[in-house]
Amino acid sequence: MMTHLEPELELLLDDVDEMRRRDPGGMLNLVRGFSGQLQEALRISDNTELPPNLGGLRNIVIAGLGGSGITGDIIREQTSDETSVPVVAVKGYDLPAFVNSKTLVFAVSYSGNTEETLGVYETARARGAGLVCVTSGGQLLEAARSDDVPVVVVPGGFPPRCALAYLFTPILVILGRLGYTEDRREAIAEAIQLTEDLTTVIDPEAPASVNQAKRLALAIYGKVPLIYGSTGITSVAALRWKTQINENSKAHAFWNVFPELNHNEIVGWSAQPDISRALHVVLLRDKEDHLKVQRRIEITKEFMTEASGVSEVFSHGKTKEARLLSLIHIGDFTSLYLAFLYDQDPTPIWAIEYFKERLADENERGSW
Ligand code: PA5
Repeated sequence: MMTHLEPELELLLDDVDEMRRRDPGGMLNLVRGFSGQLQEALRISDNTELPPNLGGLRNIVIAGLGGSGITGDIIREQTSDETSVPVVAVKGYDLPAFVNSKTLVFAVSYSGNTEETLGVYETARARGAGLVCVTSGGQLLEAARSDDVPVVVVPGGFPPRCALAYLFTPILVILGRLGYTEDRREAIAEAIQLTEDLTTVIDPEAPASVNQAKRLALAIYGKVPLIYGSTGITSVAALRWKTQINENSKAHAFWNVFPELNHNEIVGWSAQPDISRALHVVLLRDKEDHLKVQRRIEITKEFMTEASGVSEVFSHGKTKEARLLSLIHIGDFTSLYLAFLYDQDPTPIWAIEYFKERLADENERGSW
């Protein structure tokens, strides 16, 4: 649907100098470099020495928050049809009661200073769980070094959400090294090539008339995006799209998954047509979506006629890794273009920092 603003907005997205001016933190370059980051992450994945007692455990927990925490969702979905042990993502202060000496816990914090993850690290140690840390530094690195816990040290200096490749790749490789999954390096190699190719058609130099990420940002602009994935890899992609739009574009975004949303959210499309008109639905699709889910998606579209629009984004590639990362890469670029349309600098995340500082102050004052 063409709005009267669209030609002007489209011009902005084709003005590479202006976009760079609106991006003083250089996030465009970081997102452009995703394929190279994956490549480097693969290289550093073997650097960590692993004690033999980390193999053969009964369950796996991946703990972290935000940009680090999505690692747990990624690993859970990437390994779900391969590993016979349950993989659980933990995004909070506490570990589930099942965690004990038969659990392998990955404590993931890019900064190494996230209090929830530091708490989980201590609990995992107290329960005698197998532990591996993934971090660029901070208190987590210090603790791991002093406790002799294996640690993957990833390059510093990125906003955590831009360090995604460095955070999940080593875990995937380590799970292969420890025998929980097949070796995934070839799949990651496919993702490296695919995201590199994809970059050339969605990066700032590619004109808005043919650039899928720019077109998506234009479609979402001024609306609230609902990002719908399905159980499996597109659910994680939907979460990433939502959080990248929140953090980079500084805008509202919500997500849900098929088939679950057909059992509740779909009913909500009835009573408030005015609000429905302020929504834009983005359907993330994958060739391995369950056949029934594919049918459900088609029927669901009939319920969303009031929406400002419905966009569909299909994954690319053969392996789960490539397919998931292709969707994530398109979403990352879309969130940056949307940030520029809203005249927002994508890098700062003052609200997240405010919470961290305020809670740290309260800790220091002994309120906790
Ligand atoms: O994107 C972000 O900066 C946040 O979501 C962080 O990832 C989150 O606050 C946790 O911090 P860290 O990744 O350093 O553990």
